[in-house]
Amino acid sequence: MKYFLVAGARPNFMKVGPIHRAFVSRRNGHSTVDLLLVHTGQHYSRNMSDDFFRDLGIPEPDINLGVGSGSHAEQTARIMMAFEPACLEHRPDWVIVVGDVNSTLACALTAKKLGIRVAHVEAGLRSRDMSMPEEINRLCTDAISDLLFTTDILAVENLRNEGVVADKIHFVGNTMIDTLCQQIGRARQLALPEGLASGQYAVLTLHRPANVDFPERLGLVMGAINTIATRIPVVFPVHPRTKPRLKQVEMHPRIQIVEPMSYLPFLGLVANSCLVLTDSGGIQEETTVLGVPCLTMRPNTERPITCEIGTNVLVGIDPQRILLEANSILDGNARAGAIPDKWDGRAAERIVDVLLNQHVHAPSGCT
Ligand code: UD1
Repeated sequence: MKYFLVAGARPNFMKVGPIHRAFVSRRNGHSTVDLLLVHTGQHYSRNMSDDFFRDLGIPEPDINLGVGSGSHAEQTARIMMAFEPACLEHRPDWVIVVGDVNSTLACALTAKKLGIRVAHVEAGLRSRDMSMPEEINRLCTDAISDLLFTTDILAVENLRNEGVVADKIHFVGNTMIDTLCQQIGRARQLALPEGLASGQYAVLTLHRPANVDFPERLGLVMGAINTIATRIPVVFPVHPRTKPRLKQVEMHPRIQIVEPMSYLPFLGLVANSCLVLTDSGGIQEETTVLGVPCLTMRPNTERPITCEIGTNVLVGIDPQRILLEANSILDGNARAGAIPDKWDGRAAERIVDVLLNQHVHAPSGCT
């Protein structure tokens, strides 16, 4: 059996690392298993891609499609056009895609139309917000996938409510948390940036188009952050999408702007902070596992389990609400959270076990 494991953008790399490792460790018992790592090149800068491979010990991709940036249509189409010949040349039996980025959808769609079976890791998450490109990617990828690996029980419920047959759904846990469990010891040993003391600073990340592509919304968020910075230093690793938009924004001197950080220093930074403010998806999950209070500056989340039992609170972009919750946490009233079921560092092993136990099916599509 031949498998393609696809990664394209920064949040994918933490998810494919443990799957790759689990495949390699189980391959001994299945000498016919062939795994090729495919990088679409959606993210390509050193600090958005290569540094993550290095930190996580992921080998060089076997195939790099090198597609780069572009509009949604351009990027998705370029990935499809580059991925199709790779599929035709190598004829994988399965294409494994992770997460919800454009690479996820583009490779799933290409594979399915070639009659190649598709496994989606992190299936069933729903924000119910169709203005998010990721929600469209999630819905379309799940609709055509043959195997749906879910991170939590709410994602299983979403898929069942959409009429997905039970056989396709496997509740396995969270591969991004596998990576966290493997790396947290190393991350905690790293020195913090100059001038920061453990437990006495906040971390900010912002990259959602809905927040950063509209100057008035970015202004509202940064107004609240400026006020928080009067109480506590705020470290702000700036995403390349956000960087040019910050030029017009006033910034309190205690906001420390830094370049995007690679996996280990960022994990160490978050683990030692007392508060995280973000609009990311994955960071909502990482803070829940680390027990760090997280304020998510979005009106909705596809990861509601982190609010139901974790440390995450949805605050939107209303400065009053952000400040109310931030001050409450800084005053010592952070809510204690619990860790969701099966976020135990073993999700990738469960995924690979399911995949290796699948029967060989004849291709069903057109080539
Ligand atoms: C993408 C994902 C988003 C994910 C985010 C994490 C989609 C639809 N969006 O959004 O879900 O949360 O990645 O970072 O797939 N750029 C660089 N270097 C790079 C990559 C991008 O400088 O390596 C710059 C380019 O100017 C690019 C911009 O960042 O135009 C945005 O990149 P893009 O991949 O289009 O979207 P993200 O906002 O990163």
